[in-house]
This record gives sequence, structure tokens and C-alpha cells, in this order.
Amino acid sequence: MHQLKLASLGIIVGIAFLASSCAKNKGESAGGANLGKNMNIQKTEFGKTKDGQTVELYTLKNDKGMVVKIMNYGGIVTEMYTPDRNGQMGDIVLGFDNFKQYEGEHPYFGAIVGRYANRIAKGRFILNGKEYKLAINNGPNALHGGLKGFDKVIWRVRPEQTKEGPALVLTYTSADFEEGYPGKLSATVTYTLTNDNGLKIEYKARTDKPTILNLTNHSYFNLAGAGNGTILDEILQLNCDKYTPVDPTLIPTGKIEPVAGTPFDFTRPTPIGARIAQVQGGYDHNFVINGGGEGKLVQAGTLHDPKTGRVMEIWTTQPGVQFYTGNFLDGSIKGIGGTYVQDAGLCLETQHFPDTPNRPDFPSAVLNPGQEYHQVTIYKFSAK
Ligand code: GLA
Repeated sequence: MHQLKLASLGIIVGIAFLASSCAKNKGESAGGANLGKNMNIQKTEFGKTKDGQTVELYTLKNDKGMVVKIMNYGGIVTEMYTPDRNGQMGDIVLGFDNFKQYEGEHPYFGAIVGRYANRIAKGRFILNGKEYKLAINNGPNALHGGLKGFDKVIWRVRPEQTKEGPALVLTYTSADFEEGYPGKLSATVTYTLTNDNGLKIEYKARTDKPTILNLTNHSYFNLAGAGNGTILDEILQLNCDKYTPVDPTLIPTGKIEPVAGTPFDFTRPTPIGARIAQVQGGYDHNFVINGGGEGKLVQAGTLHDPKTGRVMEIWTTQPGVQFYTGNFLDGSIKGIGGTYVQDAGLCLETQHFPDTPNRPDFPSAVLNPGQEYHQVTIYKFSAK
């Protein structure tokens, strides 16, 4: 009985596979591959890297018409369309419409960042008594995984139709000592565009030697639409009673301080621009999520654009979130929707705290062989 069921399942899977490969061929000749029946995922070629690898762009669409485009290069989210209060779809992330600009210089638009997102002081850390050195690529410090981090590599992509919605499973194996990090690391990042208008990002990884790991996504959001002014009038609320103050090179001083009475207090919904002038250089700080980092999904905060009514909730298992207001954007980048001026977008990068490998009192970012790294972040969209 059991075997029979398995055999018939095999036939069904076989038929589905045939159907999907037919659809694929048909779709490809029309310029984009529709990856199977009922599969709301299209694949198109986006370009070629300088070393000749093919860059593919996947378009995911959910039941409600929300659309997300993701590349195999850097696992970059290039476009994301969500409805405003009138049902009008708008692209709410900064990005480019061509691969050339992604392969050039840009500030991590939409990318998966690793192996260690954010900064490590002086690009050095000690693990189990041994010193490791990383590339110094941000003032005196190491930033976002080095010279060729996870944002600049080609990920293997497997499209999947799940109960929650269309998904992409991205995998990448980082060699031992790649960018100076110990251990061969196998990473899987699954993007699911859920049918309740969430972009769910699930990170998993395993290592064969003790190492450090901190993965995030570096999307720049502008709920009014990319290129449509700044985020200064958007209203942010963070479930974060504490933050980690930094030195002038943006390395945490080691203190964990209350936000109360400072411009970092977003415990109540507050326009981002209200106190930004009091923060030297703009916001670029790690906030400690109340109840975060304990293996369960908690709400880190909510962003609301009063003009369009768009709302984004941030849910995560991570202990911290870097709130960055696009301070280094200076109008020199032209992307989809126009010119990206200062504060044209904001990042809410869920993460372990910056410089954790040098701060034994911060929640640990060590991954040992036999353990599985597992983090989930959901950006959930609605309008009011
Ligand atoms: C992070 C950092 C910022 C900046 C951006 C990329 O968010 O915290 O200081 O480096 O990445 O420009």
C-alpha cells in the first residue's frame, strides 16, 4: 500500500517535471522561462559577469499580485512591488534595471551580506586563541564580508512553489579561508514571497571548522517608491529599548545604552527626520531588539509612509537591527525611479551586533561544526 502510494507519487512528480520542462522551453523561447505549471516564478537572463558567468533574474509573484525580483548574483533583491492604500503597486526598494550597475560600485543594494555583515574593528578577531585577519575595506575596519563578499558571488538557485508562496532556495559554498574567514561554510538562503505579502528570508549554514557568521539582507526601502524623495517623513517604530553607541569609525564602544531621552528612541512611532540632525552623520546604528535573538520570531518594528499608506513590519529571530538612513548616498547614483539622493532609502538590517567577534559580552556570532546556523527575517507589507 505504502509502496503503491510512493509509485503513484513518482509518476505524478514525473508528469509535473515533464510539464514544467515543457513550460520552460515554451517560456524561454518567448524571452523568459516560466518555471512550471502554477509556478509564479519567471526566469530571465540579466547579464554576464566580467568572468563570463550568466546572471539570472527571477521574478516571483504571489496570489495578491505582489512582485519581487531577485538575482543569482549576490542574491540581490532588485525590485519589489507592493500596493499602497489605493491598491497602486510601487517599487519600494532602491535598485538598478541592468546588471552592469550591480557589478560596478554600489552600496550593497538589496544584497545578501556575509560572511560577517557590518563591521569588525581593525579587521581582526581572535577565535579559540588564534588570530584571524580580514581585508580592511572601511576606514580602519572590515565591513560586510570583505572585498568579494556574499553580495558579489553567484549563488545556485532552485525555484520552489511552497504552501506559503513562490520561493527561491539559494545556496553557496564558501571555501575555507575565503576572505580570511575560517572553515568551509555551506550557506542556504531561502526567499519566500508569502501570500500574505511578506518577504520571508531564511538563512541556514554549516561549517567544518569553528568560525564566525553574521548574515543579513541589505535592501534599501522607500515606501513612497524608489527615487521618490527621501525617507525623512516616514514613521518608524522600533521595539528596541537599547542600542549600541559607536566610536567615530562606527565600531560599538562596548556599552549597551537605553534609547530613552536620546534621538535613538523610536519606541513610539516617530518621523525619521524629526531628530536626525542631532545624530552625527545620520542614523547608522545597531538597535537591540527587545526579546530578540532567542530563537523565536519577534517584531523588531514597523515603518509607515503616511503619504502612500504603505506599512512594513519587520519580524526576526536576530538579536539586533542596523538602522541606516542611506547617509552615504549623495545623488551620484541613478537607479530605477530616479536619482538616489541622501536619505533616498533606509536599511533595517537584522543582524548580530557589529564587532561581536571582539566583544565577548555581546550575543555570540560563533558557529561550530555540528551546529546549524538558522535565522529568519520577514518584511511584511500592508497599507492603511
Ligand atoms: C551598512 C553600514 C553603513 C554603510 C552601508 C553601505 O549599513 O552600516 O555604514 O557602510 O552598509 O554603504
